[in-house]
Amino acid sequence: MRTFIITGGTSGIGKGLAMHYLNNGDRVIAIGSSAAKGELFYEEAKKAGAQDSAIYIQADLSLVKENYRVIEEIKSRFTAIDALVLCAQYQKNTKSIIRTKENFVFSFGLYYLSRYILSYGLKDRLENASKPVILNVCAPGMKGTVNWEDLQSEKNYSNIKSIMHGSRLNDLLGVSFATNNKETKIRYILFNPGAVQTNGTMEAFEQPIMRALTKLLYKLIGSSVEKAIQPIIRLLESPPAAALSAYMKNQEVSLTMETFNNNNAQNLNKITEEYVKQI
Ligand SMILES: NC(=O)c1ccc[n+]([C@@H]2O[C@H](COP(=O)([O-])OP(=O)(O)OC[C@H]3O[C@@H](n4cnc5c(N)ncnc54)[C@H](OP(=O)(O)O)[C@@H]3O)[C@@H](O)[C@H]2O)c1
Repeated sequence: MRTFIITGGTSGIGKGLAMHYLNNGDRVIAIGSSAAKGELFYEEAKKAGAQDSAIYIQADLSLVKENYRVIEEIKSRFTAIDALVLCAQYQKNTKSIIRTKENFVFSFGLYYLSRYILSYGLKDRLENASKPVILNVCAPGMKGTVNWEDLQSEKNYSNIKSIMHGSRLNDLLGVSFATNNKETKIRYILFNPGAVQTNGTMEAFEQPIMRALTKLLYKLIGSSVEKAIQPIIRLLESPPAAALSAYMKNQEVSLTMETFNNNNAQNLNKITEEYVKQI
């Protein structure tokens, strides 16, 4: 039985993938912060007859310590992990900074630090699988640069801006992971699903008018979750030969873009190591 870890596996793209693999007879460890969504995940797994292969770990992945707790729990129970799929995200359109009790910007902690810690922390369990993959669902290849003076996007904060910046950090995470682990079997895939009709995106705005407009926009331009997960499933089943690859839906994104600059990736890697050590 293969084992898939899916952060954000209780909603949207992550949940679509979780249910696909449970229906396929694989084991799925879904991670999210809400107990209620965890219960729903178990209920749906039971309806699919997959209650014995569904595991929910409740954790606030914006916290460094929580990521390490999750890694320890998974390592104590499983020797091999076939795929780590990174989908956890908070998409509410807020203009005020939320800080974690570890004093990182929440969005930076959840969208970047968590993915960094889980990618490296589960590496040895992934190496024990035959065709291991880390698939980071973000938005690779977006134009723009990393703001080194404001890595956590604190100035003129908005959650949307912070998410866009976080995606560039994830591009660099992919580059440093692949470059610094030359011997690894793990294929690191950065994946942009395009606009997808998930609760996270369609309920990003609290104001009723903005929410209605966003829903309408996503109905017009977005894909259903069912459609959006198809290229992800293809990549997980037949990972590319290269240690690192990036995709926008079915289309490969060129790694020659500036957003994948290796010097920047190494720089970010050093800074991140220091951040994580502080906790
Ligand atoms: N949907 C799109 O149009 C789109 C476009 C481009 C990229 N993406 C990327 O695709 C990924 C999935 O997006 P989506 O729209 O499917 O997401 P979504 O529907 O908003 O679901 C987010 C998931 O993350 C979990 N989560 C949120 N905060 C968490 C926390 N602090 N700790 C642990 N888990 C947490 C949520 O569960 P809890 O609430 O229980 O914590 C939920 O399972 C994201 O990385 C997003 O950036 C999406």
